[in-house]
Amino acid sequence: MSETLFQELKRYVGFGEADEAALKGLHPIAQPHFKSYSEIFYQRILEHDGARQSLVGGESVVGHLKVTLQAWMDKLLSGPWDEDYYELRCRIGRMHVRIALPQHYMFGAMNVIRQLMNDLIDQRYLDDPSALHLVRVALGKILDLELAIMLHTYREDLLTQRSRQVRLATFGQLVGSMGHELRNPLGVMETSLHILKGRLGDDERARKHAERIGTQITIANKIVSDLLDMIRDRPLVREQLSLAEVVEAAVQAVAVPEGLTVELHGIAGLPPVNGDRGQLRQLFINLLDNAVQACAGSGRVAVVGSASDRTVRVAVEDTGPGVDPATRLRLFEPLVTTKEKGVGLGLALVKRIVERHEGSIDYEPRDGGGARFVVRLPTGG
Ligand code: HEM
Repeated sequence: MSETLFQELKRYVGFGEADEAALKGLHPIAQPHFKSYSEIFYQRILEHDGARQSLVGGESVVGHLKVTLQAWMDKLLSGPWDEDYYELRCRIGRMHVRIALPQHYMFGAMNVIRQLMNDLIDQRYLDDPSALHLVRVALGKILDLELAIMLHTYREDLLTQRSRQVRLATFGQLVGSMGHELRNPLGVMETSLHILKGRLGDDERARKHAERIGTQITIANKIVSDLLDMIRDRPLVREQLSLAEVVEAAVQAVAVPEGLTVELHGIAGLPPVNGDRGQLRQLFINLLDNAVQACAGSGRVAVVGSASDRTVRVAVEDTGPGVDPATRLRLFEPLVTTKEKGVGLGLALVKRIVERHEGSIDYEPRDGGGARFVVRLPTGG
């Protein structure tokens, strides 16, 4: 059987049974200190201007993070250091990637743990220099492994982004030429239809069909515009704007069937953002359109706003069926759709707009069923 990445990393740092035994021996000695270590750890982060700003959710999340760091230290020293350990650490790493935590902070943070635990080892193994050496070496290896896993998750993200860019570039070239090629025939159809309509006289059926052709030409034009918008890097026209106005304008633009309600919560008090009004409006129209369609005529769509230090968070939620796990993985890629009549451009466009505003978008299942799309944008300035 081929070696897993974790096995390879362990082999690289030479992590083996002697290290496992040494860490297990250290565990009961270090455990009573985990709480104070977690306090010192976050104290250091809060003291540093740059690192503090990465604490998404502000200082209020620190209480929760201290508890999770204690669990992290517990597992660090008790193992088992198996594939589940690796997967768990990757998940934590991906959380840091998701909040765009600069990776260089990891080294300083890991060093805080390293120093605290090494000081303890130096005190407690004073009478047994060979054990002291073994435990120090084992701790060094496992913390290096932790750093390696963290860096791996950053690399994983980079590779995903790169392959997405390559796919988008290929897709962009194709779409660009097809989009332009389709504009002409659509234009001719539009003009000819206009002339035909003038000659249909009182033939109601013919008029109805002409209307239908007109509607379909409009839809086709909209698809072409969306495609071209996605590949074009039209410069953003930035201004300080209130998201409340943008969201409200988007709600007005979306056709909401009678059995469905659209609620806004916490939107009015959101801090301003520096963005392109038209594009942000388009972003929320696309999300709301999807949410309304997912509800299939009845249910509830909610737009929920909140803000922390430097981030505005707007969640668009619906009571529809939600998105299945397989589709979630590729949800923001072009041409991925769950709709019978959809082309799969709406969310790709949304992602592009959010990213051009230095923000992020995530899918999160909603408690009690349904979908929730969370847009995070930096506050204005
Ligand atoms: C040795 C380095 C680090 C370790 C071992 C570590 C550990 C963890 C763990 C275990 C979690 C998961 C929390 C959960 O399950 O909910 C987490 C999340 C988080 N960490 Fe770290 N962390 C490290 C460095 C940092 C640094 C340097 C910062 C900020 C400057 C930071 C900020 C955060 C934030 C904001 C979350 C929550 C992310 C979210 O809610 O998605 N971490 N970290």
